[in-house]
Amino acid sequence: MTDRYLSRRVAGLKPSGIRKFFDITATMKDVISLGIGEPDFTTPEPILMAGIESLQRGETHYTSNYGLIQLRRALAAHFSTLYNVEYDPEKEIIVTVGGSEALNLAAIALVNPGDEVIIPTPCFVSYQAAVILAGGVAVEVPSHMESNFDIDPDALRAAITPRTKAILIGFPNNPTGAVASRENLLEVARIAEEHDLVVISDEIYDRLVYGVKHVCFTALPGMRERSLLLGGFSKDYAMTGWRIGYAAGPEHLITGLLRVHQYMVMSAPTMSQFAALEGLLSGEPHVLKMLAEYDRRRKLIVSGLNQIGLPTFEPKGAFYAFPKVSVTGLDDDTFCTRLLHEQRVAMVPGNAFGMGGEGFARCSYATGYNQLEEALERIERFVRKI
Ligand SMILES: Cc1ncc(COP(=O)(O)O)c(C=O)c1O
Repeated sequence: MTDRYLSRRVAGLKPSGIRKFFDITATMKDVISLGIGEPDFTTPEPILMAGIESLQRGETHYTSNYGLIQLRRALAAHFSTLYNVEYDPEKEIIVTVGGSEALNLAAIALVNPGDEVIIPTPCFVSYQAAVILAGGVAVEVPSHMESNFDIDPDALRAAITPRTKAILIGFPNNPTGAVASRENLLEVARIAEEHDLVVISDEIYDRLVYGVKHVCFTALPGMRERSLLLGGFSKDYAMTGWRIGYAAGPEHLITGLLRVHQYMVMSAPTMSQFAALEGLLSGEPHVLKMLAEYDRRRKLIVSGLNQIGLPTFEPKGAFYAFPKVSVTGLDDDTFCTRLLHEQRVAMVPGNAFGMGGEGFARCSYATGYNQLEEALERIERFVRKI
Protein backbone atom coordinates (compact mmCIF):
# COMPACT_ATOMS: atom_id res chain seq x y z
CA MET A 1 0.00 0.00 0.00
CA THR A 2 2.77 2.41 0.99
CA ASP A 3 3.81 3.70 -2.42
CA ARG A 4 0.59 2.86 -4.21
CA TYR A 5 -0.43 6.41 -5.02
CA LEU A 6 2.99 7.95 -5.49
CA SER A 7 4.47 8.55 -8.91
CA ARG A 8 7.19 6.11 -9.93
CA ARG A 9 9.60 9.02 -10.04
CA VAL A 10 8.99 9.88 -6.40
CA ALA A 11 8.58 6.35 -5.10
CA GLY A 12 11.92 5.45 -6.68
CA LEU A 13 13.85 8.25 -4.93
CA LYS A 14 16.16 7.06 -2.17
CA PRO A 15 15.61 8.83 1.15
CA SER A 16 18.51 11.21 1.85
CA GLY A 17 21.33 9.43 3.68
CA ILE A 18 21.70 12.52 5.84
CA ARG A 19 18.11 12.60 7.03
CA LYS A 20 18.10 8.91 7.92
CA PHE A 21 21.10 9.46 10.15
CA PHE A 22 19.73 12.55 11.82
CA ASP A 23 16.50 10.91 12.76
CA ILE A 24 18.61 8.64 15.00
CA THR A 25 20.71 11.53 16.34
CA ALA A 26 17.60 13.51 17.28
CA THR A 27 16.61 10.79 19.78
CA MET A 28 19.99 10.87 21.62
CA LYS A 29 21.43 13.16 24.30
CA ASP A 30 24.89 14.84 24.50
CA VAL A 31 25.65 14.27 20.84
CA ILE A 32 28.27 16.52 19.24
CA SER A 33 27.02 16.96 15.74
CA LEU A 34 29.51 17.35 12.91
CA GLY A 35 26.71 16.42 10.61
CA ILE A 36 24.88 19.63 9.88
CA GLY A 37 25.64 21.43 6.63
CA GLU A 38 24.83 24.92 7.83
CA PRO A 39 26.64 27.77 9.56
CA ASP A 40 26.38 27.83 13.35
CA PHE A 41 26.50 31.65 13.21
CA THR A 42 23.35 33.73 13.45
CA THR A 43 22.78 35.99 10.45
CA PRO A 44 24.87 39.19 10.90
CA GLU A 45 23.03 42.06 12.57
CA PRO A 46 22.76 44.56 9.65
CA ILE A 47 21.25 41.82 7.49
CA LEU A 48 18.76 40.87 10.20
CA MET A 49 17.78 44.50 10.63
CA ALA A 50 17.28 45.01 6.89
CA GLY A 51 14.83 42.09 6.87
CA ILE A 52 12.97 43.39 9.92
CA GLU A 53 12.85 46.97 8.67
CA SER A 54 11.48 45.89 5.29
CA LEU A 55 8.56 44.24 7.12
CA GLN A 56 8.00 47.34 9.23
CA ARG A 57 7.89 49.45 6.06
CA GLY A 58 5.11 47.20 4.80
CA GLU A 59 7.16 45.40 2.16
CA THR A 60 4.95 42.35 2.54
CA HIS A 61 3.96 41.80 -1.09
CA TYR A 62 5.18 39.70 -4.01
CA THR A 63 8.18 41.01 -5.89
CA SER A 64 8.72 40.67 -9.62
CA ASN A 65 9.05 37.01 -10.64
CA TYR A 66 12.71 37.67 -11.32
CA GLY A 67 13.19 39.11 -7.81
CA LEU A 68 13.80 42.65 -6.53
CA ILE A 69 15.54 44.65 -9.20
CA GLN A 70 17.82 46.28 -6.55
CA LEU A 71 18.98 42.81 -5.50
CA ARG A 72 19.54 41.70 -9.10
CA ARG A 73 21.55 44.84 -9.80
CA ALA A 74 23.66 44.24 -6.70
CA LEU A 75 24.20 40.62 -7.75
CA ALA A 76 25.25 41.68 -11.25
CA ALA A 77 27.76 44.13 -9.74
CA HIS A 78 28.99 41.42 -7.35
CA PHE A 79 29.64 38.90 -10.18
CA SER A 80 31.31 41.57 -12.25
CA THR A 81 33.63 42.72 -9.44
CA LEU A 82 34.52 39.29 -8.11
CA TYR A 83 34.64 37.19 -11.26
CA ASN A 84 34.63 39.57 -14.17
CA VAL A 85 31.53 38.03 -15.67
CA GLU A 86 28.68 40.27 -16.78
CA TYR A 87 24.97 39.52 -16.46
CA ASP A 88 22.10 41.83 -17.38
CA PRO A 89 20.16 42.30 -14.13
CA GLU A 90 16.93 42.75 -16.10
CA LYS A 91 16.92 39.42 -17.90
CA GLU A 92 19.84 37.24 -16.88
CA ILE A 93 19.47 36.85 -13.11
CA ILE A 94 16.64 35.27 -11.18
CA VAL A 95 16.27 35.26 -7.39
CA THR A 96 15.12 31.88 -6.05
CA VAL A 97 14.03 30.17 -2.86
CA GLY A 98 17.51 29.06 -1.84
CA GLY A 99 20.11 27.52 -4.08
CA SER A 100 17.86 24.46 -3.86
CA GLU A 101 15.15 26.03 -5.99
CA ALA A 102 17.71 27.29 -8.50
CA LEU A 103 19.01 23.72 -8.85
CA ASN A 104 15.56 22.28 -9.42
CA LEU A 105 14.61 25.04 -11.87
CA ALA A 106 17.74 24.34 -13.87
CA ALA A 107 16.99 20.63 -14.01
CA ILE A 108 13.32 21.07 -14.96
CA ALA A 109 14.11 23.74 -17.54
CA LEU A 110 16.86 21.72 -19.26
CA VAL A 111 16.05 18.03 -19.00
CA ASN A 112 13.77 16.07 -21.35
CA PRO A 113 12.59 12.63 -20.24
CA GLY A 114 15.53 10.24 -20.42
CA ASP A 115 18.18 12.94 -20.88
CA GLU A 116 21.37 12.24 -18.99
CA VAL A 117 23.09 14.69 -16.69
CA ILE A 118 26.63 13.86 -15.67
CA ILE A 119 27.39 14.56 -12.03
CA PRO A 120 30.93 14.34 -10.68
CA THR A 121 30.66 12.76 -7.23
CA PRO A 122 30.90 12.82 -4.23
CA CYS A 123 28.41 15.69 -4.34
CA PHE A 124 25.59 17.48 -2.53
CA VAL A 125 22.79 14.96 -1.95
CA SER A 126 20.17 16.92 -3.91
CA TYR A 127 21.90 16.85 -7.29
CA GLN A 128 20.82 13.36 -8.32
CA ALA A 129 17.31 13.92 -6.93
CA ALA A 130 16.89 17.15 -8.91
CA VAL A 131 17.78 15.38 -12.16
CA ILE A 132 15.56 12.38 -11.44
CA LEU A 133 12.59 14.56 -10.44
CA ALA A 134 12.97 16.41 -13.72
CA GLY A 135 12.63 13.07 -15.55
CA GLY A 136 16.32 12.74 -16.32
CA VAL A 137 18.99 10.18 -15.57
CA ALA A 138 21.80 11.08 -13.15
CA VAL A 139 25.11 9.64 -14.34
CA GLU A 140 27.71 9.69 -11.58
CA VAL A 141 31.41 10.07 -12.32
CA PRO A 142 33.45 9.51 -9.15
CA SER A 143 36.53 11.51 -8.21
CA HIS A 144 39.20 10.40 -5.79
CA MET A 145 41.19 11.68 -2.84
CA GLU A 146 44.46 10.64 -4.53
CA SER A 147 43.78 13.23 -7.24
CA ASN A 148 42.50 15.96 -4.88
CA PHE A 149 38.88 15.14 -5.74
CA ASP A 150 39.42 16.88 -9.09
CA ILE A 151 36.99 15.96 -11.86
CA ASP A 152 38.52 13.12 -13.89
CA PRO A 153 38.35 14.37 -17.50
CA ASP A 154 38.81 10.88 -19.01
CA ALA A 155 36.02 9.46 -16.89
CA LEU A 156 33.86 12.46 -17.79
CA ARG A 157 34.45 11.90 -21.52
CA ALA A 158 33.76 8.18 -21.14
CA ALA A 159 30.39 8.91 -19.50
CA ILE A 160 29.10 10.95 -22.45
CA THR A 161 26.43 9.35 -24.64
CA PRO A 162 24.06 10.73 -27.30
CA ARG A 163 21.56 11.35 -24.44
CA THR A 164 23.91 13.54 -22.41
CA LYS A 165 22.47 17.02 -21.99
CA ALA A 166 24.40 18.65 -19.19
CA ILE A 167 27.14 18.43 -16.59
CA LEU A 168 26.31 19.46 -13.03
CA ILE A 169 29.29 20.48 -10.91
CA GLY A 170 29.66 21.91 -7.43
CA PHE A 171 32.82 23.68 -6.20
CA PRO A 172 33.84 24.46 -3.48
CA ASN A 173 32.55 20.98 -2.92
CA ASN A 174 30.16 19.56 -0.41
CA PRO A 175 31.19 17.04 1.04
CA THR A 176 34.93 16.96 0.19
CA GLY A 177 35.88 20.63 0.61
CA ALA A 178 37.74 20.43 -2.72
CA VAL A 179 38.11 23.60 -4.78
CA ALA A 180 38.51 22.87 -8.48
CA SER A 181 41.58 24.35 -10.14
CA ARG A 182 41.25 26.58 -13.18
CA GLU A 183 43.02 23.91 -15.28
CA ASN A 184 40.58 21.23 -14.21
CA LEU A 185 37.58 23.47 -14.95
CA LEU A 186 39.06 24.40 -18.34
CA GLU A 187 39.09 20.70 -19.20
CA VAL A 188 35.42 20.47 -18.27
CA ALA A 189 34.76 23.56 -20.40
CA ARG A 190 36.57 21.98 -23.37
CA ILE A 191 34.50 18.80 -23.07
CA ALA A 192 31.26 20.81 -22.79
CA GLU A 193 32.14 22.69 -25.95
CA GLU A 194 33.18 19.57 -27.89
CA HIS A 195 29.92 17.80 -27.05
CA ASP A 196 27.62 20.84 -27.00
CA LEU A 197 26.63 20.37 -23.34
CA VAL A 198 25.22 22.83 -20.84
CA VAL A 199 27.13 23.19 -17.57
CA ILE A 200 25.25 23.87 -14.35
CA SER A 201 27.73 25.20 -11.82
CA ASP A 202 26.61 25.34 -8.20
CA GLU A 203 28.98 27.76 -6.49
CA ILE A 204 27.07 28.33 -3.26
CA TYR A 205 30.27 28.17 -1.15
CA ASP A 206 32.16 30.58 -3.43
CA ARG A 207 33.23 32.97 -0.66
CA LEU A 208 34.34 30.21 1.69
CA VAL A 209 37.83 29.45 0.34
CA TYR A 210 41.08 29.23 2.28
CA GLY A 211 44.25 30.54 0.71
CA VAL A 212 43.10 29.83 -2.85
CA LYS A 213 41.01 31.75 -5.36
CA HIS A 214 37.58 30.56 -6.31
CA VAL A 215 37.22 30.18 -10.07
CA CYS A 216 33.78 31.03 -11.37
CA PHE A 217 32.99 28.48 -14.09
CA THR A 218 30.73 30.71 -16.15
CA ALA A 219 33.52 33.31 -16.41
CA LEU A 220 35.78 30.86 -18.30
CA PRO A 221 36.29 31.65 -21.99
CA GLY A 222 33.28 30.63 -24.08
CA MET A 223 31.28 29.33 -21.12
CA ARG A 224 28.90 32.19 -20.37
CA GLU A 225 26.49 31.22 -23.16
CA ARG A 226 26.28 27.54 -22.26
CA SER A 227 26.33 27.59 -18.48
CA LEU A 228 24.32 28.54 -15.43
CA LEU A 229 25.81 30.02 -12.29
CA LEU A 230 23.87 28.89 -9.21
CA GLY A 231 24.46 30.21 -5.72
CA GLY A 232 22.86 31.65 -2.66
CA PHE A 233 23.11 33.39 0.66
CA SER A 234 22.69 30.39 2.98
CA LYS A 235 26.34 29.53 3.49
CA ASP A 236 28.45 32.64 2.80
CA TYR A 237 26.13 34.97 4.77
CA ALA A 238 24.80 32.49 7.36
CA MET A 239 21.26 32.87 6.03
CA THR A 240 19.96 29.30 5.65
CA GLY A 241 16.52 30.09 7.10
CA TRP A 242 15.92 33.10 4.88
CA ARG A 243 15.84 30.90 1.78
CA ILE A 244 17.46 33.08 -0.85
CA GLY A 245 19.44 31.80 -3.80
CA TYR A 246 19.90 32.75 -7.43
CA ALA A 247 20.62 31.60 -10.93
CA ALA A 248 22.50 33.69 -13.47
CA GLY A 249 22.94 32.80 -17.11
CA PRO A 250 22.30 33.89 -20.68
CA GLU A 251 18.80 35.13 -21.37
CA HIS A 252 17.92 32.06 -23.48
CA LEU A 253 18.43 29.81 -20.44
CA ILE A 254 17.16 32.11 -17.66
CA THR A 255 13.90 32.60 -19.60
CA GLY A 256 13.31 28.86 -19.22
CA LEU A 257 14.03 28.88 -15.50
CA LEU A 258 11.76 31.88 -15.03
CA ARG A 259 8.90 30.10 -16.79
CA VAL A 260 9.07 27.28 -14.22
CA HIS A 261 9.67 29.63 -11.27
CA GLN A 262 6.69 31.86 -12.02
CA TYR A 263 4.28 28.92 -11.91
CA MET A 264 5.92 27.17 -8.97
CA VAL A 265 6.74 29.89 -6.46
CA MET A 266 6.05 33.28 -8.11
CA SER A 267 8.74 35.08 -6.15
CA ALA A 268 11.23 34.45 -3.34
CA PRO A 269 10.30 35.81 0.13
CA THR A 270 10.31 39.61 -0.04
CA MET A 271 11.79 40.39 3.40
CA SER A 272 14.54 37.88 2.72
CA GLN A 273 15.37 39.58 -0.56
CA PHE A 274 15.81 42.89 1.28
CA ALA A 275 18.02 41.12 3.82
CA ALA A 276 20.11 39.53 1.07
CA LEU A 277 20.52 42.92 -0.60
CA GLU A 278 21.94 44.28 2.66
CA GLY A 279 24.28 41.27 2.76
CA LEU A 280 25.75 42.34 -0.58
CA LEU A 281 25.90 46.01 0.38
CA SER A 282 27.42 45.77 3.85
CA GLY A 283 28.00 42.12 4.70
CA GLU A 284 31.61 41.81 3.56
CA PRO A 285 33.33 42.32 6.96
CA HIS A 286 30.98 39.74 8.46
CA VAL A 287 31.72 37.23 5.71
CA LEU A 288 35.45 37.69 6.28
CA LYS A 289 35.08 37.29 10.04
CA MET A 290 33.16 34.03 9.71
CA LEU A 291 35.66 32.86 7.11
CA ALA A 292 38.56 33.44 9.51
CA GLU A 293 36.81 31.44 12.22
CA TYR A 294 36.05 28.55 9.82
CA ASP A 295 39.70 28.56 8.83
CA ARG A 296 40.82 28.24 12.46
CA ARG A 297 38.48 25.29 12.93
CA ARG A 298 39.52 23.76 9.62
CA LYS A 299 43.15 23.66 10.71
CA LEU A 300 42.19 22.08 14.03
CA ILE A 301 40.02 19.36 12.56
CA VAL A 302 42.23 18.45 9.61
CA SER A 303 45.37 18.07 11.70
CA GLY A 304 43.40 16.38 14.50
CA LEU A 305 41.88 13.76 12.20
CA ASN A 306 45.22 13.07 10.48
CA GLN A 307 46.94 12.66 13.87
CA ILE A 308 44.27 10.21 14.96
CA GLY A 309 45.19 8.17 11.88
CA LEU A 310 42.23 8.99 9.67
CA PRO A 311 43.77 10.24 6.40
CA THR A 312 42.13 13.57 5.63
CA PHE A 313 42.49 15.58 2.44
CA GLU A 314 43.10 19.28 3.12
CA PRO A 315 39.85 21.02 2.22
CA LYS A 316 40.39 24.37 0.51
CA GLY A 317 36.77 25.46 0.64
CA ALA A 318 33.28 25.15 2.22
CA PHE A 319 33.20 23.90 5.83
CA TYR A 320 33.65 20.16 5.59
CA ALA A 321 36.46 17.70 6.23
CA PHE A 322 36.22 14.28 4.60
CA PRO A 323 38.38 11.71 6.44
CA LYS A 324 38.92 8.23 5.04
CA VAL A 325 37.40 6.16 7.82
CA SER A 326 37.71 2.82 6.03
CA VAL A 327 41.36 2.61 7.19
CA THR A 328 39.90 1.44 10.51
CA GLY A 329 38.57 -1.67 8.77
CA LEU A 330 34.98 -0.48 9.16
CA ASP A 331 32.82 0.69 6.28
CA ASP A 332 31.51 4.26 6.49
CA ASP A 333 27.99 3.31 7.64
CA THR A 334 29.33 1.08 10.43
CA PHE A 335 31.98 3.63 11.46
CA CYS A 336 29.43 6.46 11.73
CA THR A 337 26.77 4.35 13.43
CA ARG A 338 29.19 2.95 16.02
CA LEU A 339 30.84 6.35 16.60
CA LEU A 340 27.42 7.84 17.25
CA HIS A 341 26.33 5.13 19.66
CA GLU A 342 29.66 4.61 21.44
CA GLN A 343 31.02 8.18 21.57
CA ARG A 344 28.06 10.37 20.65
CA VAL A 345 29.66 12.12 17.71
CA ALA A 346 27.59 12.46 14.56
CA MET A 347 29.18 12.44 11.11
CA VAL A 348 27.55 11.60 7.79
CA PRO A 349 28.63 8.39 5.99
CA GLY A 350 30.34 9.26 2.72
CA ASN A 351 28.22 6.92 0.62
CA ALA A 352 25.31 9.37 1.10
CA PHE A 353 27.11 11.66 -1.38
CA GLY A 354 27.29 9.22 -4.27
CA MET A 355 30.00 7.16 -5.91
CA GLY A 356 33.50 7.74 -4.59
CA GLY A 357 32.16 8.70 -1.15
CA GLU A 358 32.15 5.15 0.20
CA GLY A 359 34.71 4.66 2.95
CA PHE A 360 34.73 8.35 3.91
CA ALA A 361 32.69 10.41 6.38
CA ARG A 362 31.70 14.06 6.22
CA CYS A 363 32.51 16.21 9.26
CA SER A 364 31.16 19.73 9.23
CA TYR A 365 33.25 22.26 11.10
CA ALA A 366 30.44 24.79 11.22
CA THR A 367 30.44 23.95 14.93
CA GLY A 368 32.11 25.75 17.87
CA TYR A 369 35.87 25.35 18.36
CA ASN A 370 35.49 23.75 21.82
CA GLN A 371 32.94 21.30 20.51
CA LEU A 372 35.36 20.32 17.77
CA GLU A 373 38.14 19.74 20.31
CA GLU A 374 35.85 17.54 22.37
CA ALA A 375 34.68 15.70 19.24
CA LEU A 376 38.29 14.97 18.25
CA GLU A 377 38.97 13.47 21.70
CA ARG A 378 35.93 11.25 21.38
CA ILE A 379 36.84 10.17 17.85
CA GLU A 380 40.35 9.32 19.04
CA ARG A 381 38.97 7.19 21.89
CA PHE A 382 36.76 5.38 19.42
CA VAL A 383 39.51 4.78 16.87
CA ARG A 384 41.96 3.51 19.57
CA LYS A 385 39.35 1.03 20.72
CA ILE A 386 38.87 -0.47 17.28
C1 LIG B 1 26.45 22.37 -2.55
C2 LIG B 1 25.13 22.89 -2.10
N1 LIG B 1 24.33 23.47 -2.99
C3 LIG B 1 23.13 23.96 -2.64
C4 LIG B 1 22.67 23.87 -1.34
C5 LIG B 1 21.32 24.42 -1.03
O1 LIG B 1 21.32 25.47 -0.16
P1 LIG B 1 20.11 26.48 0.02
O2 LIG B 1 18.91 25.89 -0.61
O3 LIG B 1 19.96 26.65 1.50
O4 LIG B 1 20.53 27.74 -0.65
C6 LIG B 1 23.48 23.26 -0.37
C7 LIG B 1 23.01 23.11 1.03
O5 LIG B 1 23.52 22.32 1.80
C8 LIG B 1 24.75 22.76 -0.76
O6 LIG B 1 25.58 22.19 0.12
